[in-house]
Amino acid sequence: MNVDGVIRRLEVMRDQGASLDALLDAAVRGLHETNPRFQWTGVYELFPDNVLRLGPFVGPPTDHVFIGVGQGVCGTAVAERRNMNIPDVRDLTNYLACSASTRSELVVLIRSGEEIHAQIDIDSDVVAAFDDAAMADVQRVADWLANLYSTRRAA
Ligand code: SME
Repeated sequence: MNVDGVIRRLEVMRDQGASLDALLDAAVRGLHETNPRFQWTGVYELFPDNVLRLGPFVGPPTDHVFIGVGQGVCGTAVAERRNMNIPDVRDLTNYLACSASTRSELVVLIRSGEEIHAQIDIDSDVVAAFDDAAMADVQRVADWLANLYSTRRAA
């Protein structure tokens, strides 16, 4: 399935009254299927104590269920309020390894303006796996989810 299909499926689920957790789960599963280079695809939600907590994911289990803001690639993305595209994680000193085979990592924030709700984290076993097309796909899903967070919180 391509990203258009993922978003169509999410819209149907939303219109049928699906919960935020069910929509996050469907987003992660759908996105994972869009690209054979995605070996681990998950969501971390940002809680008010400034800790990222692992939500739904596809791929091997990870020890990193809680990540403080500023720690690892995921926590750095929040601290610096920007997406991270790391072509080779072996070049980093602050990387939190999920799997020894991971080579590149992409973190895309789920945000509404200045408010960060969560992030999509993707690991690949391929060096520099995340080209412009892959980043645009992940960004579309992240933006769709950001809109969901902001409308649900306002309700
Ligand atoms: N590599 C991430 C940790 C999450 S695992 O990859 C699933 C990091 O450095 O923050």
